[in-house]
Amino acid sequence: MTEADLYTVYKGIYFHSLANTQNFKYFEEFSFRPDDIIIATYPKSGTTWMQEIVPLIVSGGDPAFVETLPNYDRVPWLEHYRNSSLNLQEKPSPRMFTTHVQYNMMPPSFFEVKPKVINVMRNPKDAFTSLFYYSEMASYWVNPGSQSNFLHKFLDGKVAYGSWFDHVKSWLNAEDKEHIMYISYEKMIMDLKDSVARIAQFLQKSLDAEVIEKIADRCLFKNMKKNNMSNYKSVPREQMDQTKSEFLRKGIVGDWKNQLTVAEAEYFDAVYKDKMKDVQYKFAWE
Ligand code: A3P
Repeated sequence: MTEADLYTVYKGIYFHSLANTQNFKYFEEFSFRPDDIIIATYPKSGTTWMQEIVPLIVSGGDPAFVETLPNYDRVPWLEHYRNSSLNLQEKPSPRMFTTHVQYNMMPPSFFEVKPKVINVMRNPKDAFTSLFYYSEMASYWVNPGSQSNFLHKFLDGKVAYGSWFDHVKSWLNAEDKEHIMYISYEKMIMDLKDSVARIAQFLQKSLDAEVIEKIADRCLFKNMKKNNMSNYKSVPREQMDQTKSEFLRKGIVGDWKNQLTVAEAEYFDAVYKDKMKDVQYKFAWE
C-alpha cells in the first residue's frame, strides 16, 4: 500500500492511521499542566526507552507501573486517536505523554503552560536504519520498498512524521528552552546511569544512587526487552509482525554501518551537511 492509502496529511506532513487527522482537533484543544512530562522524539530515536525510564523515575524506582501497563498507555502519544477514550484530562499529576510532532505544531496550551519536555535525538543514519526495519514490520507504515528508494523518501521528509531535519531543528530552536531537556540516544548508550541521574534531576526527583542504578539496570536493552509491557509483544501480528523484525531490534549505536552502502552514506552526509549548516548544537554523533 502507498502513502495515499495509509497516510493523511496534516500541515504538510504525513501521519499514519494511529495519528490521523480526526484526532487533531482533540490534540489542538488539549490542556497541559505545568507538571506534565512530555517525551518528544522523532520516531526510532529512543522513545520506548524513555517511556520506560521516565515512569520509573517518577515512581521512585517502583516497577509496578511499567510491569502492568503497556508503554502506549502509560506514556500515551498525544496525537494518537485512542486518547479521546483514555480520559487524559482526569489523570493525576504528573501526567506523562509522548509526541512525535514538531515543536511548532504543538497545541496553544503547550506554549502557555510550558510543561517539562525531554527531547531525545539519535544519529539520523541509525534512526533511518531502525525505521527501515520498522516500516517492514508495522502494517500501518508504508512498506519501505528498496533501501535506496526509502533513503530518498526519508531525506526528503516523505515519511510519516515528516523530515528528521525539520523535527530536530524545530525542537532545538524552541523559544523557551528552560523547560526542555535535550539528550541523545548515544549518550544514553554510553552512560545510562548518568543519563538516568540527569533526567531525574531535570524532573526534580531526588533519588538515591542505589535507585538510579536499579533503574538504569532495568532499562538496559537486554533487560527491557524482557518486559512484555514494553516490547510490543502484545500487539497483534497483523499490526506488528515481529517475526520480520523485533521492535527492540538491536539497540546499538552505529548499525547504519551495516546497512548503508558507501555511496548511500556519502549521499546522506552531503544532505545532512546542507540541511544542518545553520545548526550550532554539538550532537553526540558528530
Ligand atoms: P533499533 O531498531 O536500532 O534496535 P523508538 O522507541 O523511538 O521507536 O526507537 C526504537 C529504537 O530504540 C530501536 O532501535 C530499539 O531497539 C531501540 N531501543 C529501545 N529500547 C532500548 C534500550 N533499552 N536500549 C537501547 N536501545 C533501545
